[in-house]
Amino acid sequence: MESNSYSAAVEEIKSRCNIVDLISPLVPLKRAGSNYKGCCPFHKEKTPSFVVSESRQTYHCFGCGEHGDAFKFIEKYYNKTFPEAVEQLAKQYGVEIDTVYARQGKKKEPYYEANRLAARFFYSGICAKGNRGFEYMRGRGIEPATIKKFGIGYADAGWDSLSGYLKKQGIDEGMLKEISLARTSQKSGKLYDFFRDRVIFPIINTQGRVIGFGGRILGDGEPKYLNSLESLIFQKGQNLFGLNLTRSEIQKEGFAIMVEGYMDVVGLYQAGVKNVAASLGTALTEQQARLLARYTQKAVLCYDADNAGRKAALRGIDVLRNAGLEVRVMHVEDGKDPDEYEKKHGRAEFIEMMNRVSKSDIDYKVSVIAEGCDMQSTDGRLRFFRRAAEDLSKLSPVESELYIKKVAADYGFSEGALRNQVQGDASAKASQPQPRPRDSGEGEEEAPPGTVYSDADVMLEKTVIRLLMLNGSYFPRAAAKRELFVTGEGLEIFSAMDDVYREDADFELTDLKDRLGENALNYLQQILDEIRIGEDDKKAFDDCMERLEQAKRAKRITEIGDILSMADPDTDPVYIKQLTEELVTLNQMNKR
Ligand code: CTP
Ligand code: MN
Repeated sequence: MESNSYSAAVEEIKSRCNIVDLISPLVPLKRAGSNYKGCCPFHKEKTPSFVVSESRQTYHCFGCGEHGDAFKFIEKYYNKTFPEAVEQLAKQYGVEIDTVYARQGKKKEPYYEANRLAARFFYSGICAKGNRGFEYMRGRGIEPATIKKFGIGYADAGWDSLSGYLKKQGIDEGMLKEISLARTSQKSGKLYDFFRDRVIFPIINTQGRVIGFGGRILGDGEPKYLNSLESLIFQKGQNLFGLNLTRSEIQKEGFAIMVEGYMDVVGLYQAGVKNVAASLGTALTEQQARLLARYTQKAVLCYDADNAGRKAALRGIDVLRNAGLEVRVMHVEDGKDPDEYEKKHGRAEFIEMMNRVSKSDIDYKVSVIAEGCDMQSTDGRLRFFRRAAEDLSKLSPVESELYIKKVAADYGFSEGALRNQVQGDASAKASQPQPRPRDSGEGEEEAPPGTVYSDADVMLEKTVIRLLMLNGSYFPRAAAKRELFVTGEGLEIFSAMDDVYREDADFELTDLKDRLGENALNYLQQILDEIRIGEDDKKAFDDCMERLEQAKRAKRITEIGDILSMADPDTDPVYIKQLTEELVTLNQMNKR
């Protein structure tokens, strides 16, 4: 059977369903002119005032005022929500709704399955007696229980151990290559394993799916780590290693310790510091920061005490701040990275050290500036003074005032002099063109010129969707007004958002995208490109609600047209007059 996106399914149902056939088994109907008439199922009555129009595919009760189409009828009659009504009618008329869930799941599921089998294969490898990988990890102080907890494994040195096994399990070569478990030799054309003679760290997302692997060479050699290449199911910059195990600890502790590597996570976790995750070598990405922000508002960056680690920390600060997190930074005192530290010390010592040496993000930035200047020389101190002031000038007034005091005291400058310098920088900055405001990610500029919105309803829908992405608290108000969503794609996005918000209070664009079909995805992209919302999203939302009232009136105008077309000589003339008057009023209101 051909399957349909949500919106296509709604259209398909409409094309297959005749409202008269749908209703007549439930409500006995008799022909009355061009319409059908029966006793209203929604209120008690003896003389029929419930009319169904075949040509308009709507019903109306002249007794109680109930009115609607096939979907509305099912909603009302069975007390269902709109999506439930769609589902029921889809079944009844043999329309398959390819829920995005199912569709995405269907596509990705076999890949996850292949990875799951691979992870099990690697794990059974490390569990074999006298395994090299096991010995290596034991040599690094990792306990068997930790190996098990993280599902750490070993890929043996054979050329096709894993691919041979997976092929026997019915996984095809193409898939193995797509998720870089295997590749084809240029010379011989033969398939060979991607990971060989390495300890394997499975990378597992917060849904518990194995999305990729990192493989460490045993001892020295290049490359030290080999990671799964990006694929349909693995985007390195969108996941944090360890978060599948540690997110509840992160929530419990109220902060996350962000480290660089696999071994840092594993080592700290084993030592009892479990609120930890790794960005996998690279500097934190925006997506990783937002992922983390779902679980906590605070992070401590604990990167290696080398230049790369310092650089990564400086960038990490900005990324995390932008995602709304409060950031502290530290480097371990004894050892180059947290893993080395934790081998010599336990949890209590780590925490004590963290509390002692970690600095607020601003303090850290200033201290990095100080390290780069010779603070003994006048020149060096001047250079520091200027650079620090420049950084402080970017802060909010309150923050900058606090740090002016602190930096002046810490480094022996006059508070007044520093304040002058900071304020000078700030006003110089203000007279330059401003970058886009950082946290909304959206400027205040109008939609790009040349964008023509022919349909006000569509524009309204798009704006509301954009607003809902920015602020989940609008969701209930919008949800109560399903009529807002006029396009199939909009409806699909809305119902996917409903799922996303139901699962998690926080909103992730990727979660939403995962649930959308191609048309809806394109539509979403349009929305992201076209709709710019300024600072005052509350006002924008209220505007939308007002415009919705307008749209509602427009709808009522059509509805009255329907009703008048269903009236017959028996219809109460007072009612007809009422409707006509209402029509006039509505038309006037909507002209304004
Ligand atoms: N990394 C990588 N590829 C490399 C080197 C590093 O992907 N060739 C990533 C890994 O995620 C690694 C992290 O960067 O865990 C940190 O690198 P590094 O500090 O060099 O490794 P360690 O975590 O210290 O690894 P180990 O303790 O095993 O030496
Ligand atoms: Mn390291």
